[in-house]
Amino acid sequence: MSASRPSSAALTPLRHVVAAQQFDRERLSELFRLSAEMERVRSGGGGQLLPGRIMATLFYEPSTRTRLSFEAAMLRLGGQVIGTENARDFSSAIKGETLEDTVRIVAGYSDCIVLRHSEEGAAARAAEVSPVPVINAGDGPGQHPTQALLDLYTIQSEIGHLDDLHIVMVGDLSHGRTVHSLAYLLALYRGLRVTLVAPDRIRMSQGVIEHLLKHGADVRETEDLMGAVTDADIVYQTRIQVERFSEPWEEAEDQRRHFRITEEVMTRLPQSAIVMHPLPRVGEIDAAVDADPRAAYFRQARNGVSVRMALLQTLLGR
Ligand code: CP
Repeated sequence: MSASRPSSAALTPLRHVVAAQQFDRERLSELFRLSAEMERVRSGGGGQLLPGRIMATLFYEPSTRTRLSFEAAMLRLGGQVIGTENARDFSSAIKGETLEDTVRIVAGYSDCIVLRHSEEGAAARAAEVSPVPVINAGDGPGQHPTQALLDLYTIQSEIGHLDDLHIVMVGDLSHGRTVHSLAYLLALYRGLRVTLVAPDRIRMSQGVIEHLLKHGADVRETEDLMGAVTDADIVYQTRIQVERFSEPWEEAEDQRRHFRITEEVMTRLPQSAIVMHPLPRVGEIDAAVDADPRAAYFRQARNGVSVRMALLQTLLGR
């Protein structure tokens, strides 16, 4: 089965995927058209769209969804996968090799590198030296652009439009790289309202808020989750990233409980709205919410394969 190449001649080739700001509406629209096509390729068991192409996964931080969905995407496209799921301990990083040298070497073995790293800016450093495309699969508290792509695709699929949305972002908005990347993508669309629900210690960075304001979004910060969700289109919950605090944060558990999505919160949420979460969750959405049709987080995770297939096809398809 074949899948079409990007149709717009105006789109400049995508070389690396490091940050969400690399995308504009036209490229997103093309990527989502291709993602829908990839859903059909998947449902047919996959295709031979990237035969002989090799994707390397270099993960210095743990992952379930990002690594496995990238691997599934490449296999569904007929390509092959090499990689290390614990590059911090099981690559030559443990002997002191620099990220730049590792990337130079792995680029000689593969056609693209999917990199997750604990340091913000690591993907940009890798892209600087890599002769093959580098895809940022999360760089510390920085960005997670491919998660934002699948999040936006999910919003389009579930809500039906990307303009005139009210999104409520909840939880660890400081360390949550997925909300940073998603905010940059949403800023491309008209009529955006963003309500940021977080305790002061983990509020959204001023840089992201200023970017949203500069692009015309209506931005509000509050700690009142119940009030915020009443006219939301999307509630985007996030995990408190305890591993990113320099010292243990005693209040983390209380804050998680305070901002939890419960059945009571769901009674305030419009019937047309959805609840999203990049996952993993560790208690910030009650399991009882899973049966509610508005709980979109497992459908969201599933979309990761189609969107990453589309991205790999865009980067590597001839
Ligand atoms: N959403 C996400 O990045 O999940 P993983 O950490 O499991 O890859």
